[in-house]
Amino acid sequence: MTDKELIDLARGAKQHSYSPYSHFAVGAAIECDGGLVFTGCNIENASFGATLCAEAVALSSAVAEGHRSFRRIAIVSDSEQYCYPCGSCRQLLQEFAPDIEVLAARNSGAWVSYHLNQLLPKPFQFRG
Ligand code: THU
Repeated sequence: MTDKELIDLARGAKQHSYSPYSHFAVGAAIECDGGLVFTGCNIENASFGATLCAEAVALSSAVAEGHRSFRRIAIVSDSEQYCYPCGSCRQLLQEFAPDIEVLAARNSGAWVSYHLNQLLPKPFQFRG
């Protein structure tokens, strides 16, 4: 799958966004090592704090289906800003895929690519 195809899947998932509070729709598509793709959208909540980010929903869907190795994630909003994952989602991603490629897209199509360790160089790691 090309980068553009993965971003298009994220853009499609964005249509399912439930964002009545922020009116900021986000879509994500995460690609497993085997090539399977899981999508997610942001799901807001009246409590605000219980809101789920699109990346977290996509990652959770994949993990719940037994997938734990990932190679790319695409993220897009309705904005012309590149849509980077928030700090919390960076930490969620690094749990499973410290070297995942992150495609941060603009709604109109352009994107930039980073490796997660560039976006989160010093992740929290639990050493119990
Ligand atoms: N949001 C995401 O879905 N992903 C992020 O990485 C950052 C923010 C959502 C949460 C909320 O519904 C809306 O964007 C505004 O913050």
